Amino acid sequence: MSRPRVRIRAMEEDDLPAVLKIEEKTNPSPWSERSFRSELSNRDAHYFVVECGAEVVGFGGYWAILDEAHITTVAIAPPFQGQGLGRKLVEHLLTDASQRGITCATLEVRASNTRAQTLYERLGFVASGLRKRYYADTREDAVVMWLHGLRAERAG
Ligand SMILES: CC(C)(COP(=O)(O)OP(=O)(O)OC[C@H]1O[C@@H](n2cnc3c(N)ncnc32)[C@H](O)[C@@H]1OP(=O)(O)O)[C@@H](O)C(=O)NCCC(=O)NCCS
Repeated sequence: MSRPRVRIRAMEEDDLPAVLKIEEKTNPSPWSERSFRSELSNRDAHYFVVECGAEVVGFGGYWAILDEAHITTVAIAPPFQGQGLGRKLVEHLLTDASQRGITCATLEVRASNTRAQTLYERLGFVASGLRKRYYADTREDAVVMWLHGLRAERAG
């Protein structure tokens, strides 16, 4: 049986129950519903969901700060991981940002999360530093990653 159609679209309030379920399963310190609601009303924030058929199976977003996209969150529901959806989602965030004239992107990722780091590296991000004990839950370091030359990359 072929996989239902995958679509990436802007996140809406009605998506929050599905988003919160995925968040609980993928983030050791899950964001609250209130945090997501506040992000949805932030005009500098741009959030998207990945739909597989009618089901929301992932989400991600970024803040547009001057010429930078600060990627705040990226998550794919566990049963849908490893199928290229995370990559598709991050590519979508970068394309959306470049269409707004943004030229670089940055994010923080847990030092232990080599899977996400590999994904970002494949998309051109480079590790450029550590924020020591950045994550309050485990006191784990964050790897800071940057992607420069976004407009040129996307155009190519
Ligand atoms: C990180 C995450 C978003 C990746 O999404 P995904 O849909 O599973 O990833 P993809 O299938 O698109 O794979 C993208 C890349 O990740 C890497 N990857 C995927 N599965 C992997 C695995 N089991 N081990 C190591 N790397 C892996 C590969 O480099 C892959 O690139 P390739 O397709 O060129 O080989 C997803 O695993 C997730 O939601 N994890 C929990 C939340 C999280 O860690 N978010 C990131 C916070 S910064």
